[in-house]
Amino acid sequence: MPTRKIHLKSFGCQMNKLDSSLVVGALGEQGYELTDTPEAADVIVVNTCSVRENAENRVFSNLGHFKYLKKSNPNLRVAVIGCMAQRLGDELLAHEAVDIVAGPAQLHEVPALIAEAMGDHDKHLSVSEKIRQPAASQQVITDSHKLDDFELAHDTDANHIKSQAFIRAMRGCNNFCTYCIVPFVRGPEVSRPPEAILKQAKKLVDQGIQQVTLLGQTVNSYQYKAGEKSYRLADLLGQVSDIGGIGWVRFITSHPGRFDTSILQVMASNPKVCPYLHIPAQSGSDRILKAMNRGYTAAEYIDLMDTARAIVPDIAIAGDFIVGFPGETDEDFEATVDLVRRVRYKNAFVFKYSPRPDTHSEKKLEDNVGDEIKQQRNAKLLEVISEISAEDNERFLGKEVEVLVEGLSKKPHLNQEKSGHPQLIGRTAGDYIVVFNGPKSLTGRFANVKITQTAPLTLFAAPRPSTA
Ligand code: SAH
Ligand code: SF4
Ligand code: F3S
Repeated sequence: MPTRKIHLKSFGCQMNKLDSSLVVGALGEQGYELTDTPEAADVIVVNTCSVRENAENRVFSNLGHFKYLKKSNPNLRVAVIGCMAQRLGDELLAHEAVDIVAGPAQLHEVPALIAEAMGDHDKHLSVSEKIRQPAASQQVITDSHKLDDFELAHDTDANHIKSQAFIRAMRGCNNFCTYCIVPFVRGPEVSRPPEAILKQAKKLVDQGIQQVTLLGQTVNSYQYKAGEKSYRLADLLGQVSDIGGIGWVRFITSHPGRFDTSILQVMASNPKVCPYLHIPAQSGSDRILKAMNRGYTAAEYIDLMDTARAIVPDIAIAGDFIVGFPGETDEDFEATVDLVRRVRYKNAFVFKYSPRPDTHSEKKLEDNVGDEIKQQRNAKLLEVISEISAEDNERFLGKEVEVLVEGLSKKPHLNQEKSGHPQLIGRTAGDYIVVFNGPKSLTGRFANVKITQTAPLTLFAAPRPSTA
């Protein structure tokens, strides 16, 4: 029988990317091979994100195309998994292109659902009927065990490109920021047992993984109770970095509320724990922060960033912002610009507010900042962020930095003739992107390079002539 082919389209955050790779890993074991061309596929898996409306629109436009593909290939099966699957369930299943709908808590069922759908022309739905249940409920505990087993069984280094692995520290979120869909599609916060995380990390490091990133929507609230002992993120970072042969350990994303300074202490004292924090502020206006239910004021956030810099002097801070939240005035926006100027991010993402069905802000607050103003504020904030990182990056000029090499850059031919090597891309412990010409064999390895030029998002380093 010819090998069956699977085409994958993945949207959304690192959590989703990890889920996608686990499904591909599991299907690979059943003999499926990946293909880049949807036309050549027997199965198309779309892993979806609901965080903003345009992420969902992109999925619908893809489904439109797959519906058309099915006309010429009636044996094609399409599975929609991830956050939109949980949010829309039946509604997605009714789409002409769709055969399977499975939510994030049913990830482990996807291979079996695909096998069933290959043998019939029925539609298959598996989502959580009630996604918000207490973390201690039997349903959540059972799902967590199944997901843990699935993750341990199908996570191999082949899932992870460039010698870096993403490992889930926790699932779900309990914060209910008023704009956010995540708690409604990913369910309650559940921290994985440290043994499961360590076992997975050890396996991956033994297979050659150099860097492990621990994942959670608010990873700093990681907490696992085992008898008398309670494990927090700082403990986990220490344990993971003790694995023999591991290079770097990092974690995303942190929430500024209840941020435990023991995490910073570990960062300062343990060279394997990268001095990098992705810690979104979302806004610099107290009024807006309150309306967002973020649980801190701008002054508290700034204080925490000052503490972080005092404990870890070379820390790189990254963030996210939402512009155009309901009721955001010019004054509120200026407060955000002020916070950005004060904190001096290494980089920050800016998103235009997008009302998400059934969230508090969608139900109670009018989306009353026009798109043009959202666009202007978005552009202005990005300009300030970029201006600051351009200034701050100059401090790297002439310095030697250590990078973990990821492979060929987007423009591998740049300077290739002159240096005799393609252009490579790597990242420093602070997550700064560095490009330089060097042998491709450096991929997946650490290298020291000297910075010769800087830009807001990129550092440029001198060529590395050999791997010696
Ligand atoms: N758990 C992370 C963020 C997850 S979502 C945290 O709390 O920091 C990633 C980012 O998307 C958020 O930081 C926020 O900036 C943005 N976002 C979430 N919901 C949004 C919405 N409704 N409209 C616009 N941006 C949104
Ligand atoms: Fe969404 Fe807030 Fe949870 Fe982040 S902390 S996932 S923004 S609800
Ligand atoms: Fe999107 Fe779901 Fe991640 S909504 S941001 S893919 S948790």
